[in-house]
Parts: sequence; structure tokens; C-alpha cells
Amino acid sequence: MPTESTCYQSVPQAILTASRVELTDIALNVLEGSLPSDIYGHCFTVGPVGSVDSGELPYLDGSPVFNGDGMVYRLDFDSSDTARITTRLAKTPCFYADRATHANNQYAPYRFQNHGLSRFSLALGMRNQLNTALLPFRSATDDRDRLLLTYDAGRPYEIDPLTLDVVTPVGSNQEWRPESSLLTPFLPVLTTAHPCFDPITHEILTVNYGRSPASFLETIPPLEAAAELPSVLAAWLEAIARLFRLELPFKFLLATLATLSADSWAFWLRQFEALTLIKMDDFVYLVRWDGEGDLERWRLVLPDGSPVKIHQSLHQIGITEHYVVLVDTAFSIGLAEVLNNPVPANQPLEREIRHLLAGAPSPDSVVYLVRREHLHHGQIPAKAELEAKVTAQKLVIPREVLHFAVDYDDAAGDRIRIHMGHVCASDAAEWLRDYDQLATDPSLSPPSRLKGMLLYETDISVLGRYDIDPHTGQILASQTLCQDPETWGVALYTFRDALPTVHQPQTVTQMYWYAGGLFPELLTEFVVNLFEDYRYRVVSVPELLHIVADNQGKPTCLFRLDTQSMAIADTYQFPCSLDASTQGYLINSPQFVPKVNSPADDPTAGYLICHVFEGDRPQIWIFDASHLSQGPVCKLDHPSLSFGFTLHTAWLPTLQPCPANYTIPAREDYEPLLAHKSQAIQALFDQEVFPHCDV
Ligand SMILES: [Fe+2]
Repeated sequence: MPTESTCYQSVPQAILTASRVELTDIALNVLEGSLPSDIYGHCFTVGPVGSVDSGELPYLDGSPVFNGDGMVYRLDFDSSDTARITTRLAKTPCFYADRATHANNQYAPYRFQNHGLSRFSLALGMRNQLNTALLPFRSATDDRDRLLLTYDAGRPYEIDPLTLDVVTPVGSNQEWRPESSLLTPFLPVLTTAHPCFDPITHEILTVNYGRSPASFLETIPPLEAAAELPSVLAAWLEAIARLFRLELPFKFLLATLATLSADSWAFWLRQFEALTLIKMDDFVYLVRWDGEGDLERWRLVLPDGSPVKIHQSLHQIGITEHYVVLVDTAFSIGLAEVLNNPVPANQPLEREIRHLLAGAPSPDSVVYLVRREHLHHGQIPAKAELEAKVTAQKLVIPREVLHFAVDYDDAAGDRIRIHMGHVCASDAAEWLRDYDQLATDPSLSPPSRLKGMLLYETDISVLGRYDIDPHTGQILASQTLCQDPETWGVALYTFRDALPTVHQPQTVTQMYWYAGGLFPELLTEFVVNLFEDYRYRVVSVPELLHIVADNQGKPTCLFRLDTQSMAIADTYQFPCSLDASTQGYLINSPQFVPKVNSPADDPTAGYLICHVFEGDRPQIWIFDASHLSQGPVCKLDHPSLSFGFTLHTAWLPTLQPCPANYTIPAREDYEPLLAHKSQAIQALFDQEVFPHCDV
């Protein structure tokens, strides 16, 4: 594989910079080119924009850029010559609690803090930041498209496509099982950021799962391997004890631990559960919702009857005509993040804990297949019904994955085709710290302006197409592709009707992926060491270090993958930095928009809308999806528009208000969880939360 296509690469500051100011119907400036006359509809994008503490991005304290309130951006193409943008923060009940506790000293004991990728208050629980993805849907009786906003560690919420206001959670607190029995109003609920909607059956399929400490700690190297175990372990436990206000019981525990060796993990976990009363079990439910009624769920078990266990996350799921496809994805979030980062402000301790606990994600993808016709008579948790079970077929696909797509057509239930983007040898849950050192020269630190940035890959990415026999779990055929420079840092995809509410494409024939490239500033000694022994390595570590020598890297690319031939059919390569001191380009949040009146079965008759970062300038670029290599046909921006590291997108042809035929009233939803709370916490909800939610 050639590796000559290096160039200077420096991360553009715009990707770490975001405003929390909400914009209403702002006309964008046309920087270059012209707005196509046959573009139409409404593009939605969501991304994190910091917290009430930070006020905006970048974070000054080094918190990861992915930890932040969701901001929804809607780009409207409904006037002839102007694109207009409206933005709104995702204001969940916990958003109002976070804002009130930050602003009012009376509520200071209940304040939230960033713990790695999670934001947590011991008294109030986990923030549901709703900053990750969107899902259009319509129930069997709806006459319009509706829209969900999602997050991996919280319930999805319906938003109003017209006002962008948060309308209601999907499912009451009673209908979701939290990851732990933490006795807080804001429960740590794990789900997928990418639920699926089937426009033929009008079903939304999602998941609700929990990991026991043993499950998530299995991905961490044995503590016994660390020479400095006793002091670091003690410091970590003390920090958790302080966080959970359990200093006295932990003093006893620490004294006991000093005498332990090999079984310290299992012992500690049992003690932790006993002392904190936090029960964390392994469970996975497949959840179905018809857009109108109660949630219905099935607990997943393997053919031998044992429960399915998720070790990392279920960031994305997929559906075919006859199957639901779940993948244990290479990324962890939830209460594990809080335990791994018990004292965010204590950098020396954080550094030691990271060194001790960091483990690379599994290099393989564990896949579970559930036959949809087996999903009958599920448990209705709202009616406290007995648990129902469904069996899942398990298989393993080599290489890790975060994002994938499946063909809806599954050959009458006999063959499932999965399209995967393997972001090899990288950890989406790791970010650049102040104390990191460059892999090329450990005496040097990356630029401090980049602290909080996602750490990129340490090997070239691979695209894979897999045909699976769902009856046996056998991989019938597979084809993979890695190509320099296109597949360095493969990230997100889009394609025509990727999130359909009416027309369900049977197969995915053309996928548009972007790849972030390779940035020497983000290749730290820590992350290279973490993946030094990566099982499927294509580019050796010495070769990797050779590529990034002298501030060289790989360019950012946007390309079309023909999934039939598994060849890259069209590429746009973004400009590189001019020299070692000049910031370059990055891209995010691609969305396919069909050309008006184009045939629904033409997968390239449309435009790609992308967020592009050029130095400190955020822009929106529009590409003709059939001519990527010709470059953007239009570039847009506005001095008030600063969106930072946005994530996923959706597109709707028309805008109509949310029909409001489904609502979970906040007061009814939270009152059972507040029943035994202090008067101060009840007052917080009465005065600062409920008045904003139930209007
Ligand atoms: Fe995602």
C-alpha cells in the first residue's frame, strides 16, 4: 500500500470552538459558488456545545469536546436563493436543573461536574445531553414526519421540527431500566444513539442495556500488571469514596485491600456495590415503540439461555426486513466514565488513573442478530408485566466498528449484508490531555489549544462488506478495502434515504464516507502505546511514526464507496496545511439531500451538505453528490455561526409542527423519583425544572 501522500496537517481551531447562542432564521452568506436551484428541504445536525460552566467551547479545563449540551442546527433550503439557519439547545429537564444549580448558590451542593465524557451530580444523577444523533419517523396514523434527538446515555426525546423545542421523552422513567440503582432523579440509562425506524412496519427499534462493573472492567488490563498498583489504586478508591461521600467505609476497605493481590478487582467490586448500594447488572433489552403507545421490550438471551452481555456499547443498531442487528461498538460511556474520572479537577490523579485503567477497545466486533418475527408479546414495563425473552444469534466480525449500515433486503431472511467502517486502532472515548506527549518526540507536548480534542486513529481504517447467514452466524463472504489516503480516519457516512420515513431502500449501493485523515498533533505517545499490539495492524508503528515525522500527516477526504465493487468511485481531497504552522481542514456531519424531483432509485442524484472547518472559520459546504472530485459547488458561512464538533444529521423534505399526540408529563415522570428526596431538591424541581417542561 503506498504511503507517499503525506502533507502538512494541523487541526483547525474551528472544530473546537462553538457558540451556545441560539440563532433564529439567519440568512447565510454565500462565500463561493452559488446555491443550487434544485436543492430543497431541511437539514438537521446536532453537536455538543459545552456546558453551563464553560459558556461555550473550547473548554478551558480540558474536558473532552464531546461532553456538552446538544445544539440542534436546522438549515432551511425553502427559499429560492438563500439558505437560512435556526439553532436551539436541547433543553431536557436535567438541562434546566444543571442551569439552575450553576446559577444559584442555594443549589450549589447539587451541581453537575464533567467526568470524562459524562456529566454527573451525585445528588441529581447523570445528564442526558442529547448531543449525538437524530431519527425521523412517523407512526401508522401520522400524516407528517416527526423527529427524535438521541444520546448514548439517556432516553431519546422527541423534538418539534418547526420550533426545535424538546417536546417529550420517549418512554417514562418507569419504562427504562437504569444502568445502576443509583437513587437519583436523573437516571443513568444506556441506549443506542442510533435507533432504527422501519417505514414499512412503522416501528422504532432501540435498546436499553446495562453493564455490570465486571463487564466494563474486563476491557481494562489487569491491575496486577501495574507496578505502582497500591498507591494509585488507593488514591483512586479514595477519590471515589469522596465522590460518593463514603470516606469511613472506604478506610476499612483500603486497609483490607493492602493485603490483597490477584483478586483485588473482584473483591473491590463486591465491596463497592455493598457500600454504595449501587447495583449494576448485565442486561440488554430490545425495545419497540410504535410512536404512540407504551414501550414494549424483550430481554436478549443467547441460544443456551444465558443473558447477552455488552462490554462496551451499542452505539448503533440496524434493521433488515427480518432481523435486528446489534453490535458491541468500540466506545464506552455511562457510569463507567464517572468511576474512571472521580475527581476531574485533580490532574495528577487523573493522569495516574488513566495510565492504570486505560485499555484499548476490543479489536473485534461482536454482533447479535434477532429475528423480528420472534418479537411478539413483549413485556410492557409501564404495566409492570413479567419479563419476556428473545434469543439472539451471536457472531464475531474481525476489527472494531462504531458505524455501520445494513441492507434492508435480507434475501427472505437467509442472508444479511452489513457495511462497516472500521476505525482501526483508535478509541473514540479518548481525548487529548494537557499532560500528553507527542509520539514522535515524547519530550514535546501537543499544542495546548487542542486539549479536549478526540484522539485519532493509529492505523489506516478499513471498509468492510460482510454477508452473514443469520441462521448459523457464519460469515458467508467478506470484502474489505483500505486505500491511502482516502481511508485514514474513516468516520461518518451518509447515503440517499439513510433514515427513511416513506421510501425504504432495499440495498445500500453507494455510501458517502468522510475520513478525517491523520494529524501528527493528535498522535500521542499514550494512544500509540495503547494500540502498539493491535491485532489487525496494516501500517506498522515505525511506519506510522515515519509518516507523521516533521508535522506531516494524511489529508481529510470525502469519498463515494461503490458497495457492489467495493471500490472508491469518487473522492474530494481537502487542502492540507500550507506549512507546519498553518491550520488545515476538517469535515464533519455529512448529509445527503436529494435533488428535487430526482428518481428515488438514483443514489447519486443529490447534494452532500457538510460542516467544514478551515483554520478558525466554520463553514457549510455543498457538494454535487455525483461529482465530488470537482469540489464544492457552494460555500456558506455567517459570523454568528460557530458549531464546533458536530456529529450526526437528518433531512426532512418539509417542516410541520410536532403533532403532540404523545407526551410524558415531566411532573408525573419525576415525582416518584423525588418522593424521598430533600425539600431543597423538590423545590429545585418545582421552581426551576417543571415550569419549563410542562407548558
Ligand atoms: Fe454515531
